[in-house]
Amino acid sequence: MGKEAAGLLDRATAFRCALLAWYDANARRLPWRERPSLYGTVVSEFMLQQTQVKTVLPYFERWMRELPGFSELAAAPEARVLGLWEGLGYYSRARNLHRLAQNVVACGVPPATVEEWRELPGVGPYTAAAITSIALGAHAACVDGNVVRILARLTADGAERRDSGSAAKVFTPLADGLLDPERPGDHNQAMMELGATLCSRQSPACVICPVREFCAGAQTGDPARFPRLAARTLERREVTRVWCRRGDALLLHRAAAGARRLSGMHELPTSEQAGLDGAALAGGTELARRRRGITRFVITETIVAPPGALRIKASEELVWVPAKELGSVVLSGPHRRWINEILARDPERDQAPKR
Ligand code: ADE
Repeated sequence: MGKEAAGLLDRATAFRCALLAWYDANARRLPWRERPSLYGTVVSEFMLQQTQVKTVLPYFERWMRELPGFSELAAAPEARVLGLWEGLGYYSRARNLHRLAQNVVACGVPPATVEEWRELPGVGPYTAAAITSIALGAHAACVDGNVVRILARLTADGAERRDSGSAAKVFTPLADGLLDPERPGDHNQAMMELGATLCSRQSPACVICPVREFCAGAQTGDPARFPRLAARTLERREVTRVWCRRGDALLLHRAAAGARRLSGMHELPTSEQAGLDGAALAGGTELARRRRGITRFVITETIVAPPGALRIKASEELVWVPAKELGSVVLSGPHRRWINEILARDPERDQAPKR
């Protein structure tokens, strides 16, 4: 451990006091904080993996109304679970959460320790620490990208790290040493809150930071240069998707049950999935072009209506879905939004019912 980290640990008590006083006065009122429960903590932590608080809020509220406890979730059919998750992305989280609830119900009692939680599907070191510290008062520090950023700034750590995951391993002992033994859950949430609100990636708000006096990075005058993470190489991908109608039905691709990705979920088919090559699409109409980032890929997706009538054979994976049934199939990622946008421009205006 470096000199800055050791100095910070010497002042751990004062650091915790300043952090928690700020949190008590400024914490956002979030539903999983207002009405805390073990189940609500688990659901919120799964939803908050890779997703911002403001996106999660309406999903969390609806989920807790529809599936209020481990037993309701365990008994729900997978399609219902995926339907409630639709739009949040990274669907393996929903499947893991479903399996986790089935495990908890089968065992009769929820796990009590970090190690036991780690054995459940979808629970990595961060999520295990968050659940056990927030809901069970365990002494376990949460270290994600936000916390790495705070700790790297507090210690002015300029060493290059491969990525946020390997930096998290390096900073875990410091995070553990700083953790408030009386209020570990609040301390963890205070760190998350600081990272999400003041200690932002580009422009940290040091003037109003409650722990500025402990921050070696702020003292350098350029805290935004910490942490130093190796640049990620982004890969560009182009995908052509097809928009095929037959009457009011729309052609969708349904990933096979048990597929590694998106099992049972629907998307507008790619040209390959629909068996349409460049010649079949030549002269077609471009209806939309969208760009999105998924992990290290930057994907440009172009949705094309092929010219004229085409013979497309439906199969297990290629299905014609009537307009009135679009509301009850599970669509992955932004596909419902794209479909609604295109249907809204259609003269027939037969919009897919909103969920
Ligand atoms: N991100 C992950 N867990 C969180 C929590 N409990 N509150 C706010 N943001 C979070």
